[in-house]
Amino acid sequence: MKKRLGPSDRLYPMPCPLVLGGTMEHADALAVAWIAIGGATPPTVVMALRQSRRTLELIRETGEFTVNIPRAADAAVVDYFGIVSGHDHDKFAESGWTLEPASVVSAPLVAECPYNLECRVLTEVDQGGSHVLVIGEIVESHAEENILDPTGAKVDVELLDPLVYIAGSREYRRLGEKVADAFSIGKTVKPE
Ligand SMILES: Cc1cc2nc3c(=O)[nH]c(=O)nc-3n(C[C@H](O)[C@H](O)[C@H](O)COP(=O)(O)O)c2cc1C
Repeated sequence: MKKRLGPSDRLYPMPCPLVLGGTMEHADALAVAWIAIGGATPPTVVMALRQSRRTLELIRETGEFTVNIPRAADAAVVDYFGIVSGHDHDKFAESGWTLEPASVVSAPLVAECPYNLECRVLTEVDQGGSHVLVIGEIVESHAEENILDPTGAKVDVELLDPLVYIAGSREYRRLGEKVADAFSIGKTVKPE
C-alpha cells in the first residue's frame, strides 16, 4: 500500500554544495540542495535559486559561478552558509573559510571544498514561481589530489565523503556502502 503525499519538492537524497558568486575581492556563497547536472555535451548544471538570494545578485553581475562540494565533516559550516545571508553577513570572514582563484572564470573556488566546478551562466528560466532556474555550462573542474582514484583521472567518492541533504527530516548525512557496479549489474537481470 502506498500513501498519497501530495505535490512534493523532495528527492531523496539531495546534494548540498556551496554555490559561489562574485570575485576574489567580494564573494558570497549559499547552500543549494536543488541542483543537478543538466546535460553532457556541453556539460551543464541547473539549479533553483530564490530571487532574494545575495549570491544570485553576484552571479548576475559576472555571469559566472562555482559549485563547491563539501565534505560530510563540514556540515556545520555548510549549514551556516545556508541560514545566514550575504545581505547582512560576510560569511567567509565569519566562518574562516577561504577563497582560491579558479582557472577560467572570475568566481573563485571555496578552498575547503575538495571538488569544484567552474560555470558560466547560459540562461535563466523564470518559472513564475518561488525560484528562478539558473543553467550554467561547466567549463572546468578541480579535485584535490588526495580524493582521486589510482588512475588520477576520477574522484574516489569514499575519499571525497560528500555531504548529503535529506529534505523533510532536514538532516545532513554521508553516503553508505557501495551496492553494485552501474551500467553492469543490470546485465545480470535476464528476461524470462
Ligand atoms: C540544506 C539547505 C539547502 C538549501 N537549498 C537551497 C536551494 O536549493 N535554493 C535556494 O535558493 N536556497 C537554498 N537554501 C537557502 C540558502 O542557502 C539561504 O537562504 C542562504 O542564507 C542564502 O544566502 P545568500 O543570500 O547569501 O545568497 C538552502 C539552505 C539549506 C540549509
